[in-house]
Amino acid sequence: MKGILLAGGAGTRLYPLTLVTSKQLLPVYNKPMIYYPLSKLMLARIRDVLIISTPVDTPRIRELFGDGEALGMHISYAVQEKPEGLAQAFTIGRDFIGDDSCAMILGDNIFYGNGLYHKLALASENAASGSATVFGYYVEDPHRFGVMELEKGIGGNEKQVRVLSVEEKPANPKSNYAVVGLYFYPPGVSAMADQVHPSARGELEITSLNELYLRENRLNAQLLGRGFTWIDAGTFDSLRLASDFVYMIEQNQGMSISAPEEIAYRFGWITKDMLARSAERYGKSPYGEHLLAVLEDRIVL
Ligand code: TTP
Repeated sequence: MKGILLAGGAGTRLYPLTLVTSKQLLPVYNKPMIYYPLSKLMLARIRDVLIISTPVDTPRIRELFGDGEALGMHISYAVQEKPEGLAQAFTIGRDFIGDDSCAMILGDNIFYGNGLYHKLALASENAASGSATVFGYYVEDPHRFGVMELEKGIGGNEKQVRVLSVEEKPANPKSNYAVVGLYFYPPGVSAMADQVHPSARGELEITSLNELYLRENRLNAQLLGRGFTWIDAGTFDSLRLASDFVYMIEQNQGMSISAPEEIAYRFGWITKDMLARSAERYGKSPYGEHLLAVLEDRIVL
């Protein structure tokens, strides 16, 4: 399975912060925002990742991760000339995806919760057997998001649920469940994306792509319940919330979350020596200290 990290966009809601800086490189407490979604693709055991960003931001992001070797991954880069919609990722990534299934995560989405790992594994299995998976999260203001209408009477955290409809930013949402920025698709997603036409706002909408899978009865959904946190960090309030959230978790547990080098090491993708070299790169920062603690087996999980 391949993975796309979509980290372009205009970031206009964060002006003036994003006038000359990529939203995805802004800090979420003590790390660049992009560390969080990259970690989630890694937790799905995806080692081959395409990062898509703007013409000016792509070189900066490449400076951060290079070809991915330090993470035991293969990271490549592609440019999206204009922010013409999330579904465009699959046409830009056509050669990268090839005949594989593919997950996509948005560069400004923060996920946290025990058990996410299993949900990701289930979504990968679905993709291998021909179905797409989206994830739903209860929100107070669904009209701001893609919204999924669910079959009545379902509940529980573990089960997959049946989706009846998906709508982009509806004036009258049919549920409170937002479709979050993490999607799994079976082989053939680029050809499906070719069938998506620009919406009224001129974007190739991911909701339109999801509708195509729904029409073919190939769209699954999993709900992220109260044990999970999802934050779309694209506004000042949600960016601050994301920082506060990471601060709270890290202070309380006394250890870092979403450290790509740690995940790579625990999965056996990099050696102890490679982790030591990465720890050096971060100097005396708490992040570097955390990698040293992992290296010295002071943190066992
Ligand atoms: P959005 O938050 O919808 O858009 P944006 O980042 O351009 O911000 P704003 O609305 O404030 O102008 O994008 C969600 C994520 O997807 C974000 O990480 C940027 C990325 N994105 C792209 O990379 N390309 C695109 O064409 C779009 C629409 C978004």
